[in-house]
Parts: sequence; C-alpha cells; structure tokens
Amino acid sequence: MSAATVSRQFARAALRTSARQTFATSSRQAFRQSGRRFYSSEPPKNSSTSPLAYIAGAAVAAGAGYYLFTQGVGSATTKIFTPTEGDYQKVYNEIAARLEEKDDYDDGSYGPVLVRLAWHASGTYDKETGTGGSDGATMRFAPEGDHGANAGLKHARDFLEPVKAKFPWITYSDLWILAGVCAIQEMQGPTIPYRPGRSDKDAAACTPDGRLPDGSKRAPHLRDIFYRMGFNDQEIVALSGAHALGRCHTDRSGFEGPWTFSPTVVTNDYYTLLLNEKWHIRKWDGPQQYQDKTKGLMMLPTDYALIEDKAMKPWVEKYAKDNDLFFKDFAAVVTKLFELGVSFKPDTKTIVFKRSNA
Ligand code: HEM
Repeated sequence: MSAATVSRQFARAALRTSARQTFATSSRQAFRQSGRRFYSSEPPKNSSTSPLAYIAGAAVAAGAGYYLFTQGVGSATTKIFTPTEGDYQKVYNEIAARLEEKDDYDDGSYGPVLVRLAWHASGTYDKETGTGGSDGATMRFAPEGDHGANAGLKHARDFLEPVKAKFPWITYSDLWILAGVCAIQEMQGPTIPYRPGRSDKDAAACTPDGRLPDGSKRAPHLRDIFYRMGFNDQEIVALSGAHALGRCHTDRSGFEGPWTFSPTVVTNDYYTLLLNEKWHIRKWDGPQQYQDKTKGLMMLPTDYALIEDKAMKPWVEKYAKDNDLFFKDFAAVVTKLFELGVSFKPDTKTIVFKRSNA
C-alpha cells in the first residue's frame, strides 16, 4: 500500500470516526506506517491575487453578508438576499464535503491549512489601532498575501474558491472563518460558535508585515505579538494547541514536520508530547527546530518556549492532563481570535453548526 493511500485512508477515518479515543490510536498507527508524506502541489510563485480579480465580489459583498443580484439581461429583477442560518449551514456542509472528497493533500486533509488561513486572517489584529483582524480578508492581495508568514495559504484560499462560486453571497472574510470553524469541528475538535457579518476590504486595508509570530523566537516575542491582539498567557498556550494539527513545510516556513502523530485530529497531544518527549535541537541545514527521539516529530522554538516560561508552563501541564479543559478553553479562545476586529450588528445571532457526522 502506498504512503499516499494510507494517508488518505487515515484522513477518511479521521473525518468519520466519532469516538475520539478509538481514532486517536488507529490514526497514530496509520500515521506511523505512512512514513514520508508528499505534498500534492508546489507552492505558488506568487501567492496573492491582483486586486482587480476581486473588485466585483468585494463590491457586492460589502456590508453584512447581503448580496444584490440581477436576473435577466437589462431587466427587472433585483433582489436582496438575506442569508439565514440554514444558508450558512449549507456553506458549512459544502466545505465539509470538500474536506472529505479532496483527501489527496498532505496528511490526507485540507483541514489544518484551513485552520491556519482563518488564524492568519485574524491574527493581524492590533487592539491599539483597531486595524487588521478577520474583517477584510485582505490576504487576497499583495502585499499581505506575499508576506512570508502567509506562504502556502494559497492552497487554502484556492480550496475555498469553488465554495465562494457556489455561494457568492458570502464574503471572503466570513467564508474563511466559517472554513476554520468547519475544519476544527470536522477534525473532531470542540464546537466553535460562529457569527457572520464580516465585510471584504480592498488592498488599502492590508496590514504591515510582521504582525504574525515568528517561530524562531521565544516567549517575549509571543507576548509582544499576542498581547497586541489582546490575549494573555493562558490564551497563548491554549491557542498553541492548534499545533496538534498539520505540519511545517520546508518550502513554506522553512521548518519541517508535524507536531503530533495524528495531525488531522484535534487532541491535546501537542501538550503531552511537549512535556513528555525528550526534545533536542535537530542537526540539519534548516532553521533551528526541536526533534523527538523518533525524529518523526518537531517543535518550533516558540512551542518549546511554552515549557521554558514559568508562567506558561503550568497551562501546558493543565492541558496535557485534561483534554476536556483544553477543548473548553480552546473553543473560547478560538472564538475570540476569529472575531478580532469585527463589529457585529447588535442583533447578530450566533450559529452552532451541525457536524457532517451528527
Ligand atoms: C504561537 C505562535 C505561532 C507560531 C510561531 C506558529 C508558526 C507556525 C509555522 C512556522 C507553521 C508551519 C507553516 C508551514 O510551513 O506550512 C505553522 C503551521 C500551523 N499553524 Fe501555527 N503558529 C503559531 C500559532 C498558531 C495558532 C494560534 C494557530 C491556530 C489557532 C495555529 C495553527 C497552525 C496550523 C493548523 C498549522 C498547520 C498548517 C498546515 O498543516 O498546513 N498556529 N504555524
């Protein structure tokens, strides 16, 4: 059986299995067996798109998710479409179906890179100036799309284009966050409540480079970056648990490898591995990163910083011991992250999406 086949089976199991514990064991085995993994496509030379490509969409999408459209040529019918909760659930279902279908990618799922897209869209927020955040989807444009931190996220944006084409009334900024919510839930993570109402902004609203964290740094840098967004130490640790998912790619960040043996399932394994494995600095040509003794797993300097720091380490210990506590705190902090920089209308309802296997 080829590595790719094992990977795909692994992903299908990840998306279908509802008993987390059962899956966690089988996924680890599948992951170990799969050996080296392959990327389905090369990174783009230029990761962002010309502003022109988005102008029409941005114009109709501005506002709070309302879409004006005309039926027929030169005639008559212009309607205002107001999406209901059911319409957002349809978008969720479409993304979930694509996650299941398009399993020939990385470890068998686009889920992790969708989570990273939603986080990088949100994590540019600056509480002092109110700039950045998930309202705007400005990563569609240069220069933001070409910022080093966003390398590889074109895979996630492209994955969502057919969804946007099918549901043109949703803004990119609402879509990217909905996709992050969907990916977390479909990868057996906690329920993430969702509120729509983000608008798409133009290239002028791109944030400056340097607002997202640099994996080669340590705790003071994490505090600079995350305090700027309005988070505290406990929240930094809870957010970092997202690294249970996905992997580093040499052709994106320069780092290499996954953090856990089950990179398409949300678990607290990131914390247990961080505490219990013996980590050493990898000897290689690439940037400094940590490696476990199996050489199959990695930690970034910013990950390792969480157990070097006196205030953060107790939270790593708590989340390693108690998966329910991690799920509860992760859901709360991700909800906060995904809403950074958004002014919701006062009557905006919170949506709890049904999972595809519910
Ligand atoms: C604490 C500071 C953080 C740093 C320094 C950091 C850095 C990185 C780096 C270097 C990668 C590898 C990118 C690549 O080569 O493809 C990565 C991947 C990832 N990050 Fe983070 N990250 C941080 C926080 C977060 C947060 C807050 C989340 C979400 C809540 C997150 C979610 C992810 C996911 C899911 C991936 C895997 C993406 C994939 O498999 O393609 N990270 N991160």
